[in-house]
Amino acid sequence: MLDKKNITKESITFEALASKLNRPKLYEEGDLHIWKDAHISMGMLEAHLSKSTDAASRNDDFMDASVDWIIQIAPVTAFPKLLDLGCGPGLYSERFRKKGYEVTGVDFSERSIQYAREQSVIKGLEIDYLCADYLYVNIEAQFDVITLIYCDFGALKVEAQLKLLDNIDRWLKPGGKLIFDVLTKHQFEDQGDTAVWHLQEKSGYWKPNPYICMAQQFDYEGDIKLFQYLVMDAHEKMSLARVWTHYFSKGSIRERLGAFAYNQMDFYSDVAGKPFEETSKTMCMVIEK
Ligand SMILES: C[S@@+](CC[C@H](N)C(=O)[O-])C[C@H]1O[C@@H](n2cnc3c(N)ncnc32)[C@H](O)[C@@H]1O
Repeated sequence: MLDKKNITKESITFEALASKLNRPKLYEEGDLHIWKDAHISMGMLEAHLSKSTDAASRNDDFMDASVDWIIQIAPVTAFPKLLDLGCGPGLYSERFRKKGYEVTGVDFSERSIQYAREQSVIKGLEIDYLCADYLYVNIEAQFDVITLIYCDFGALKVEAQLKLLDNIDRWLKPGGKLIFDVLTKHQFEDQGDTAVWHLQEKSGYWKPNPYICMAQQFDYEGDIKLFQYLVMDAHEKMSLARVWTHYFSKGSIRERLGAFAYNQMDFYSDVAGKPFEETSKTMCMVIEK
């Protein structure tokens, strides 16, 4: 139960609450960073490491199947150098290394990279992990394969998507392959705008102390969704996390690639090579530069 002794009294006004629950302007940010916040990143790491769920990383069997497929379409002998963007705690990077790729992993979550580095030492896997933002990191090397797995591309604002494509264009060798996945509209069918809340009576995903979380989803034009979480904790502090997500069709992903020059683009339903189906909730692109 809530420890009432630790709860300070402050009044939360209707206006304060309503202003945070109202539909925000496109791309307005919250104040909680879901990948970097000290407490949330702990839950995130746990979610990555859960072997059977598809939380922050997909389940183990899927990742195995995914790497088995990638090695078929980009064999190590012809495509030895691999850059794993948004590598998290290194679950894919490790698998790639074990298959023989020379792997560089980039992620801006200190907690994830620290875990990935520790694991690579324990397991004797030589992997170059960089704790950096892939939008701004300075990488001189070029790679045969670049992966960006688990729909991270769509979590970037359009401007950032274009900047990342520009970076990838510099980092990918001619003839190299970019492999990434995105969500499609079928992920969100029949959802519309929604609002639900729950009371967390002890430490939980969002806070180390009890809290109430008001979760909302908003639809925006341009195939964009906002997932918003307003969290009021036991000290009556309000925090707001906003996760903007884009979803794509074949046409809109081609459009977004714009100036990115490529020889060939193949579509799949997922990043384990499932043949493309119009109703799939995800879509994976293999792009040969
Ligand atoms: C959904 S997780 C996927 C992790 C990994 N690809 C997997 O499938 O197991 C997204 C990862 O991207 C990282 N990330 C998001 N934006 C980033 C950025 N701008 N620069 C570097 N890493 C980023 C997050 O920290 C997180 O670890």
